[in-house]
Amino acid sequence: QRFLTLAIPAKARFFCVVTCIDDIRQALEFTRARNLPLMVLGGGSNVVMRSDFAGLVMQIALRGIDVQAEVKEGAEIAADANVYVAAAAGESWQALVDFSLARGLWGLENLNLIPGTVGAAPIQNIGAYGVELDQVFYDLQALRVSDGELVVFSKSACEFSYRDSFFKRSKGEYIILSVRLCLASHGVAKLAYPGLLDNFDPSGLDQVLPMAVADRVAKLRRAKLPDPAVIPNAGSFFHNPIVDAKQEARLRAEHADLVSYLQADGRYKLAAAWLIDRAGLKGKVSEGVGMHAHQALVLINPGRCDGNQVLNFAHRIADQVEAMFGVRLVIEPQIYP
Ligand code: EPU
Repeated sequence: QRFLTLAIPAKARFFCVVTCIDDIRQALEFTRARNLPLMVLGGGSNVVMRSDFAGLVMQIALRGIDVQAEVKEGAEIAADANVYVAAAAGESWQALVDFSLARGLWGLENLNLIPGTVGAAPIQNIGAYGVELDQVFYDLQALRVSDGELVVFSKSACEFSYRDSFFKRSKGEYIILSVRLCLASHGVAKLAYPGLLDNFDPSGLDQVLPMAVADRVAKLRRAKLPDPAVIPNAGSFFHNPIVDAKQEARLRAEHADLVSYLQADGRYKLAAAWLIDRAGLKGKVSEGVGMHAHQALVLINPGRCDGNQVLNFAHRIADQVEAMFGVRLVIEPQIYP
């Protein structure tokens, strides 16, 4: 329970912390010899345990962040000098954001304050405030569980899409060891997400630094998202559903204030928070589990209820939203076992 931000009271039969590749290989040997299932844990901020885990939970604690190859400001390339930053999977995502901000690098400012580890970030292609990881991702190194080989995945091999990747679908086949990002020494603030532009002088937007964007993002996040140390939660509990244009038009005809975002493929992403809010479920708490009063998409677990209680509550929320809007919400966190 102390490793999960949702504070679900579940136990692991075996638990280990790995700090190097050899540790990981030994842990895999241990599971193989005893025919045990393996669960890889990062920050525990996107996980629901349905029951105790009858195998080995391996917490990834590989550390290190470096600038790998820096293209120095030069006459020809000064405008968009790329800076490759590599980080080990066990670093906290925030440590990597802070590392980049301290060097004035562009790329991670909109992804400030996302909980979890670097190794977990590609699994669900983390995204916030108008930027998704794939926009700055270069490649990653992973260990193939079946034979212990090290494999490099290019960006296209990761098959990123909204809150999804190859790794989310191939659950457990690879253990991510490190991630390399392509950041930039020069850039322009991405302030299109609602609320980000406020407080910036419209005539001086080209002067805005990454740190200022990160500060603005931090303010927006803190206003809405509860601190798991105070109220157990796992951030957004549902995906924002993507529907076709016909369904969006049908919903808009019934609800003029529907919140939807046109996607590159002509479909629309609906705000699940709006659907939950409109279904009257924002702030609804039942027997220790609820939807947060300041952000309808965040499931909170103040009662430290078990995984089944949490999932039953989430299914009831999804049922009510579906009954009202005809759209089924899909749970975002990974569910084990
Ligand atoms: N809204 C409501 N009621 C609410 C909250 C929001 O009606 O209680 C409406 C508002 O109109 C708002 C819209 O829903 O404009 C979208 O809300 P918000 O900007 O808070 O974003 P979100 O769709 O709820 C997504 C991500 C977050 C990310 C924010 C900011 C998903 C599943 N969630 O949330 O990611 O921080 O955008 O970019 O895509 C996470 O994945 O854990 C997470 C927190």
